[in-house]
Amino acid sequence: MTTTTTQTTTPATASATIANLESAFAGESMAHIKYRYFAKIAREAGDEETARHFEATADQEVMHAFGHLDLLYPKSRLTPARALEIAIEGETYEFTTMYPTFRHLAVEEGNQAAVAEFDEQIAESREHAEAFRALLEKAAKRFAALAKVEEKHANAYQQVLDRVRAVAV
Ligand SMILES: [Fe+2]
Ligand SMILES: [Fe+2]
Repeated sequence: MTTTTTQTTTPATASATIANLESAFAGESMAHIKYRYFAKIAREAGDEETARHFEATADQEVMHAFGHLDLLYPKSRLTPARALEIAIEGETYEFTTMYPTFRHLAVEEGNQAAVAEFDEQIAESREHAEAFRALLEKAAKRFAALAKVEEKHANAYQQVLDRVRAVAV
């Protein structure tokens, strides 16, 4: 999932601090991936020490990004279902809006490599969104089934309670 400042990743950006957390999160996330990429380049060039240093720093950037996410998406308000909804929203934005717009401009600029890359990303984002949606639907069915079981348990307890009360009277 891509996070950009143009994409709504949290419910209505209410304050400058929330907006700053969003961009700090984007920055740390980018640093993480960039350092992983630099590590790959360094390793391919035979510089293992530099590669490892980039990887270790990249791991720390992940923790920095998590710190921002803890504030943007407090765990107390985040369920797996909500996480899936947010992910679906992000992936859908990518394949319906972001990449098609980027692709259009790349065509205009005659950048065929970018057009091909954006096409791949559109397909991948759509696949990701579909997979997340399938999971969400599966989870919803599981919750519905669990609710039925809970209802049965509750009814059974009620019957026992009624019997106990009848005897007590
Ligand atoms: Fe994706
Ligand atoms: Fe950092």
